[in-house]
Amino acid sequence: MSINGNYGNDGYTLWLTGLSGAGKTTIALALEAKLKERGARVERLDGDVVREGLTRDLGFSKEDRDKNIERVTFVAKLLSRNGVGVIASFISPYQTARDLARRETTNFIEVYVNASLDTCIQRDVKGMYAKAIAGEIKNFTGISDPYEAPENPELTLTTDAEPVEESVAKVLNYLEARGLIQPAAVSLGEVR
Ligand code: ADX
Repeated sequence: MSINGNYGNDGYTLWLTGLSGAGKTTIALALEAKLKERGARVERLDGDVVREGLTRDLGFSKEDRDKNIERVTFVAKLLSRNGVGVIASFISPYQTARDLARRETTNFIEVYVNASLDTCIQRDVKGMYAKAIAGEIKNFTGISDPYEAPENPELTLTTDAEPVEESVAKVLNYLEARGLIQPAAVSLGEVR
C-alpha cells in the first residue's frame, strides 16, 4: 500500500451515469470528500464543469455527446493509469460511449445512478425539465432524447429510494472489496 491510500499504482475510474437530476453530482461530491478524508488521491470530472471548459464547444447532439465522453475518457485514462481515483459524473446516455470509457481507462466501474424520470422531473433542481417539456430546450435527455440504461453496471444506486449516505457507503464498500482503497481505519473510540 502506498502513502496516498491507494494500493500499488492502481487507480480506478468510477463512472456515474444517469439522468439529469438523478443525483450524480451530489454523490460524486460526497464520495470525493470521504475518499479525501482517507488520504486517497481523487479527481472529480463533472459534466456541468467540464462543459464550461474542455468541451465548451460541444452541444447535445449524439455526435457531440460522444465527443464529450471521448475527451473525458482520455483525461480519465491518463489519471487512472497513474494511481488516481477518478470520479466521473456525466449523463453519458449511450452505452457505446460508456463502453469506450470501460476499454480505455484503468479499473472502470460503471455506476448507474438510478432515479425515475418522474422523480427527476419533480425535483427539477435546475428548472430544465420544465423548459424541456415546454419545448424550450431541444434534445433533452429523458424528454426528447434517449437515455440507454446500463446493461451490466457494477453498481446501481437507487437514489429515489436510498439516502445519499447509503449510496456513498455502497461505493466505498465496493472499492474496499476490490482492494482499490484501504478499509477505513477504526478509531479506538469505536472499539467496544
Ligand atoms: S452528456 O450527455 O454529454 O453526458 P453532460 O453530463 O456532459 O451530458 O451534461 C449534462 C448537463 O448539461 C445537464 O445536467 C444539464 O445541466 C445540461 N444540459 C443542457 N442541455 C441539455 C440537454 N439537451 N440534455 C441534457 N442535459 C442538458
